[in-house]
Amino acid sequence: MPKITFLPSNQIAEYQEGSLPYKGEGLRESLLDVALNYGVELRHACGGICSCITCHVFVEEGDERLSPMQKAEEALLYRVPGYTLHSRLACQAAVRGDVVVRIPTPNEQL
Ligand code: FES
Repeated sequence: MPKITFLPSNQIAEYQEGSLPYKGEGLRESLLDVALNYGVELRHACGGICSCITCHVFVEEGDERLSPMQKAEEALLYRVPGYTLHSRLACQAAVRGDVVVRIPTPNEQL
């Protein structure tokens, strides 16, 4: 049962894997999909098709419990101001277990 903690709001999502209704944006059970299901405010200007960088998050814990990064995501991440080795695009990171992510503050966003 994955437990996703969204910082800085400290909103927690816990659900049975495979049970979330798909919200139609990003990969199924991606961090974005989870956020949409739980009312977490997370920008996603392109609608989750991996063509913007507004859904950027920092993974504080559990990088290894997210789906591997694909080339398209990696290419976009290099354009994120403040990109780190723990950066992910929420729409492309499918959840495989417990993770803690931090949504950038407005000052850190574009
Ligand atoms: Fe645009 Fe994720 S919502 S890349």
